[in-house]
Amino acid sequence: MLSDQGLAWDREYGEIRAYTTSYRADIDRGVRFLLGYLAARGETIEGPIVDCGCGMGRNAIPLARSGHEVIGLEHSAVALGRLQESLGEETLAGTLTTQQHDLNEPLPIGDDFAAVVLDITAVDNLVDAELRRGYGREIGRILRPGGVAVVVTFARNDGYYGPWLKGSPWREQGVVEDPNTGIRNQLFTVAELDAVFVPPLVREVGSTLVFIDDAAGAAWTRRFLMHIYRG
Ligand SMILES: C[S@@+](CC[C@H](N)C(=O)[O-])C[C@H]1O[C@@H](n2cnc3c(N)ncnc32)[C@H](O)[C@@H]1O
Repeated sequence: MLSDQGLAWDREYGEIRAYTTSYRADIDRGVRFLLGYLAARGETIEGPIVDCGCGMGRNAIPLARSGHEVIGLEHSAVALGRLQESLGEETLAGTLTTQQHDLNEPLPIGDDFAAVVLDITAVDNLVDAELRRGYGREIGRILRPGGVAVVVTFARNDGYYGPWLKGSPWREQGVVEDPNTGIRNQLFTVAELDAVFVPPLVREVGSTLVFIDDAAGAAWTRRFLMHIYRG
């Protein structure tokens, strides 16, 4: 059964549409960075890509179009329906399969399976610290040795979410609820994010992205963390 947060995401995708980034056609900057990072090191992606919280396929679809084998995990049936609508009858150079799945549960993926894992603003939705640590261990389990995971998520001082911390009942943990959507998010320090993606994962890149972006009809100074972990 879909959790209350799953239902909140269904409402966001169905009616509210506060998060403009989720509806963009362009691939996420973290994914673009990862592709450039691998290319600069002379590495190619030889194996499946698992996209955790794939939403409407903003990243999964272009990657499958360019020949990759992509598996998208997502709890929102509305988002997955939109993804299928976008795909239509299109023949992809690669493959894209999706599964409705709650990332708080063990991942439906075998050990050492993925060459790449994408987590583009999904881990922040896992607001229960213990379940979030379980998810991090699952990423370490499914990522093959030498594989890479890119994680893009919200920094504690993000300009959109950060100000709500003040009135949040979960302020100490760094969790806020967006009054526009009812969606709860963990806002991370670097140390907190590294505490999720533990060995065998090792962080290779850690950076803070600062940019101006739209959400809920206004422009905000966004601060995201972008980490790359190696399996
Ligand atoms: C901010 S959106 C990002 C979507 C996509 N990664 C992108 O770059 O456009 C976060 C996504 O994570 C999904 N999500 C949140 N919590 C989840 C959970 N517990 N299990 C599975 N998916 C979840 C949401 O439904 C949503 O599609």
